[in-house]
Amino acid sequence: MTIKQVGVVGLGVMGAGIAQLVLQTGYAALVNEMDKNLLNKGLNRIKTGLEKLCEKGKIKTEDKDAMLQRLSGTVNLSDMASCDLIIEAVFEDINVKTEIFIALDKACKKETVFASNTSSLPISKMAVQTSRREKFIGLHFFNPVAVMPLVEVIKTIATDPQILEIAINFVKSLGKYPIVAKDNAGFIVNLFLTPYMLDAMRAVGEGVASINDIDMGMKLGCNHPMGPLMLADFIGLDVINNASNILFNEYKEKRYAPPPLLVKLVTMRYLGLKSGRGFYDWSDPKNPVPVDFGI
Ligand SMILES: NC(=O)c1ccc[n+]([C@@H]2O[C@H](COP(=O)([O-])OP(=O)(O)OC[C@H]3O[C@@H](n4cnc5c(N)ncnc54)[C@H](O)[C@@H]3O)[C@@H](O)[C@H]2O)c1
Repeated sequence: MTIKQVGVVGLGVMGAGIAQLVLQTGYAALVNEMDKNLLNKGLNRIKTGLEKLCEKGKIKTEDKDAMLQRLSGTVNLSDMASCDLIIEAVFEDINVKTEIFIALDKACKKETVFASNTSSLPISKMAVQTSRREKFIGLHFFNPVAVMPLVEVIKTIATDPQILEIAINFVKSLGKYPIVAKDNAGFIVNLFLTPYMLDAMRAVGEGVASINDIDMGMKLGCNHPMGPLMLADFIGLDVINNASNILFNEYKEKRYAPPPLLVKLVTMRYLGLKSGRGFYDWSDPKNPVPVDFGI
């Protein structure tokens, strides 16, 4: 099976990045959004991304034009019937995702491979709703897609080994490094990354050290690009709280439970960079200031 046309459903942060990458690596991309307005926004996002690369001299104008020739959009999932692979990147909501896959399953040719970019939902729960469990995988890209070299390829107990192979080769063809994970909560990266950030939050809550010293400790002591609390603010505290609950529900281990300080911050809608405040005050995004919780 040769992948020529890739469908991308949902053109937010991840979907637009994935569609752009797919175009840059020679595939045709057929993208989908909920309505015309969102579709145009998404298409513009992809165009702007490619134009920026052009301005920086990373791609030639004629290459950019050729990529845009291979880009098309639709608001109807039924138009995606001919795609060889469809990557779903809509909201992290199992009902929304499942509805999309049921509609795609009815519309698409039987060879079409389905993939979800979910960070935390079970691939099996989506696959079982379709007539093609064996052609269903997870393709977990990292944010920002253009920069992060890793993609987790997730196989369920029903995934056909040939489809897994196709997915691995597809990821390689995008210039990314594939790692294979089983369909367990957290896959590989978030299984380790989430409790690492939760530990740092617990340390703040228990007064082990200041926010600055915890982050500088990991940054300078372990050569990480940033500390766990700043990273949490970047990712979004609501996203981490959600991931924490999912991991805790699956493994019932204390280390995955959301720390009280995280729950309080999320309750107050202090969600990190996107809301202007989390473990840091982001009033000046170039100069985040650690918040004094009075602990
Ligand atoms: N943001 C990240 O750092 C990140 C990293 C890895 C994986 N993910 C996963 O990727 C997925 C998308 O995340 P995101 O951050 O891009 O979200 P986002 O909110 O930026 O984008 C989601 C997009 O999906 C669209 N959408 C929603 N319902 C739709 C439908 N029925 N049909 C078509 N389009 C629909 C929305 O209009 C929106 O543009 C989620 O599953 C998330 O867990 C996110």
